[in-house]
Amino acid sequence: MRQGPLDLARVEGVLLDMDGTLVDSDGTVERAWSAWAREYGLDVETVLTAAHGHPAVRVVRSLLPGLGEEAAKAAAQRQYELEYADASDVTAAAGARDLLAALDRMGLAWAVVTTSDDRLAKQRLHAAGIDPPVLVTLDDVGAAKPDPEGYLRAAALLDIAPSACLVVEDSPPGLAAGRAAGMPTAALRGLDGDLRLPGLGRLAHLLERSRVRPWWRDAVGYQVYLPSFADADGDGWGDLAGVCSHLDHLTRLGVEVLWLTPFFRSPMRDHGYDVADYHAVDPSFGGEAALDELLTQAHRRGMRVIGDLVVNHTSDAHPWFTAAASSRTDPHREHYIWRDPAPDGGPPNNWLSHFGGPAWTFSPATGQYYLHLFRPEQPDLNWRDPALAAEIDTVLEYWFERGLDGFRIDTAAYLVKDADLRDNPSLPAGQVLPARGVTMDWRRQDHRHDIHQPDVHAVHERWRRIADRHGAFLVGEVYELDPHALARFVEDERLHSSFWFGLVETGWDAERIAAMLEAATTASSRLSWVQGNHDRSRAVTRFGGGEPGRRRSLALHVLMALLPGTFWLFQGEELGLGDGHVPAERTVDPLGAAEPGESRDVVRTPMPWRPGPGLGFTTGRPWLPDGGRGEPDTVAVQADDPASHLNTLSRLLATRRRLAHLLAATDDVSRIALDAPVVAYRRGGLWAVANLRDTPVADVELPAAAVFDTDDPAVGLDRPRAGRVRLAPYQALVLAAR
Ligand code: NOJ
Repeated sequence: MRQGPLDLARVEGVLLDMDGTLVDSDGTVERAWSAWAREYGLDVETVLTAAHGHPAVRVVRSLLPGLGEEAAKAAAQRQYELEYADASDVTAAAGARDLLAALDRMGLAWAVVTTSDDRLAKQRLHAAGIDPPVLVTLDDVGAAKPDPEGYLRAAALLDIAPSACLVVEDSPPGLAAGRAAGMPTAALRGLDGDLRLPGLGRLAHLLERSRVRPWWRDAVGYQVYLPSFADADGDGWGDLAGVCSHLDHLTRLGVEVLWLTPFFRSPMRDHGYDVADYHAVDPSFGGEAALDELLTQAHRRGMRVIGDLVVNHTSDAHPWFTAAASSRTDPHREHYIWRDPAPDGGPPNNWLSHFGGPAWTFSPATGQYYLHLFRPEQPDLNWRDPALAAEIDTVLEYWFERGLDGFRIDTAAYLVKDADLRDNPSLPAGQVLPARGVTMDWRRQDHRHDIHQPDVHAVHERWRRIADRHGAFLVGEVYELDPHALARFVEDERLHSSFWFGLVETGWDAERIAAMLEAATTASSRLSWVQGNHDRSRAVTRFGGGEPGRRRSLALHVLMALLPGTFWLFQGEELGLGDGHVPAERTVDPLGAAEPGESRDVVRTPMPWRPGPGLGFTTGRPWLPDGGRGEPDTVAVQADDPASHLNTLSRLLATRRRLAHLLAATDDVSRIALDAPVVAYRRGGLWAVANLRDTPVADVELPAAAVFDTDDPAVGLDRPRAGRVRLAPYQALVLAAR
């Protein structure tokens, strides 16, 4: 059953409940009911629990069933009197102003629908400074929620079909009223609606983003490395229920797209990048139900989820391969790449596996070698076989139907190999490729024939047609560092986006990074910006480690925040984590076995959620050691510190969310020169400015007011800072025109 995200683009009107939703009147409501409870000799807590979301007269009847009709009305009237008398601390709810401003910008209609009477509603809205174009109260319809009449009346007054109205509520009766009116619902206070909102600011953002086409443009993505994110069942191995239990962390951070590393059934020889069944979720990750639940919960939060399409190769345990290896005439034989031995009986050509040794393994049953650019347990698929291409089409269709919002494409540029399987030339003696994540032998070849063949674009174009029919997103893993060459992978109707790994493959070299970034921004507006992933040393470590490494990484995040495309975080990056420590005897990465210096285990150690054994990642023994993380590395500790890496990055993304309408105005971004040695970009009415030097820069004249400052949590959209500033090493700012 497809459980897609609610399509907010179809919303034409927003119908808001008043108390607790648009207006923060908790104090006065509580005081009035408490005073009333005391007058009537009732327990205050019981009364408060019964009162929320219901009209006074109904609450009175439920609490004092013995009262006659007239006495009940009088008791309810008394309760109203107490409420009329006290509007002292009524304010607009957090995020209400942002929401109303966003509705105004988008030209969306709105109304307030409340079970309060007219007098109270007008008094409270006035106190909160809110003047709704349409107000429907208990006096208008005489029916209290969960009766849908109020919502239906508001829709009629706005002249909008009920199904195009979004009801926003913070109480079960209110949500029931919205549902009964046939309207989609958005729920606050952790309640369940079609959308679950942590606040109105989030709704403003989601509505605004729903008008941005395509949906992934300028989105914030987050990579979950599934085995290491969170383990819900205590077996020491991360799972989908673990991800589900931390969705609120991701929402708070501002994540809009979640990339899950492979969850398919797999023998885990490369931790999921060896798929044995493209239509099944591995039981160790929680199986089918866990994935469906995660999709439902993520979509309710307005978050999209993409999978990881690993189709350069399968597992050798995939039934296609076991069949293909059994006989030269098996119908699946052509799905893989088989060749006779060389005349000396050795491999057919000189291609090498990334994980060490030749890229060919002899299969005695049929007397031929098969190709594997990774482990022998990861045989390469033959993308020149039309039947294979058709099979993979059905995989995409299946997952998009099931509710996935797209795929990251594993080794997207590797799929098609040279038709004649020609030898790769060796590089001149002494020369090695700058590539990481491979063996030294691999780096000594010029990979002219095994990878990055131009025929691969046709495969991407084919997938793009499928994805576009489903509104799904395809982002490629393409290790092409020249951004102009990379741009060819995302031009026309090819992949929607591709990661640019310039910031993943480099150490700290401020000048070079600034130049690379500039080249990448001019190459394409469809790139995915990323500093790390599960295959390479973490940015903080590559950028020097410790506090300097963290500050450098953060400064680049500020620049990235302004660039058109998508902005990605790798799990733990929000905490400023460097590489974890993994003792040699606990190494499990196949690459680490061949090239110990390249082991990827150090970036895959468990996510540190809270201090204590297992770091909140697991109650069992983690599959990789905890990496030596300390208490300050954990989400729980950082969440409580306003100046932590987590809160600074969250603040950056929150600012960016509130500026999303300005980002959406243009994709044109250019590096600009300020009268100071800083790196600055301008995109329409926004600027990002960073001091990438390890010395301060004095007296920088800002072209607009700062609305985000890495070093000063007091600076914000509501407290901008203009004028000249001194920038400490790696301090970075976002500026916005008034
Ligand atoms: C790239 C993935 O990111 C990596 O983890 C994996 O080992 C290879 N592709 C092979 O699938």
